[in-house]
Amino acid sequence: MAFQGTALFLFLLVLVNSVEIQGDKTTHLHFYFHEIYAGPNATAVGAVNPPRNDSAFGAIGVVDDMLKEGPDPSSKLIGRAQGLTTVASMEKDSGILTMLNLVFTDGPYKGSTLAIFGRAVLGTVMERAIIGGTGEFRMARGYTLSKQVPSPQGLLILEYDAYISH
Ligand SMILES: *[C@@H]1O[C@H](CO)[C@@H](O)[C@H](O)[C@H]1NC(C)=O
Ligand SMILES: *[C@@H]1O[C@H](CO)[C@@H](O)[C@H](O)[C@H]1NC(C)=O
Repeated sequence: MAFQGTALFLFLLVLVNSVEIQGDKTTHLHFYFHEIYAGPNATAVGAVNPPRNDSAFGAIGVVDDMLKEGPDPSSKLIGRAQGLTTVASMEKDSGILTMLNLVFTDGPYKGSTLAIFGRAVLGTVMERAIIGGTGEFRMARGYTLSKQVPSPQGLLILEYDAYISH
């Protein structure tokens, strides 16, 4: 059946591996994060301006970014990354504290979420903690590794690997 073929294809694309270790399941997800940072369809907005005029410290943004199977903007949408980004570093190192809820809306984890917390510095391989989850990812712990990949003007694309114990 075509539907089953499609479902299997998505499953293979999204789920790299899932193994049982001492009763805990470990799942590795590979996907791409797409953020439109400017224009009428921006998925990231500045919500609170920084209080001081000589630093970005204290700025708060809100995002409803897209999670896609691939790096291509036309690639299939599998979820959203919804949350807050704050400039929580007084140093001018562009470190951002992010609090993101990954909400899977398609594929094998449709209806499940992952809560991610941690520091993001663009231009590096960013490691952030997975501090919880819901649905298939109830009681999740783990980490994500993400890095920027080349993207068209106005778009920020990060390649994500998530390693989840749940
Ligand atoms: C914004 O989204 C609308 C609706 O999908 C689309 O028609 C329009 O072309 C988009 N604008 C830009 C600048 O991408
Ligand atoms: C920034 O704030 C300082 C202190 O309030 C003020 O003296 C200065 O004029 C401000 N600079 C600008 C560019 O607004």
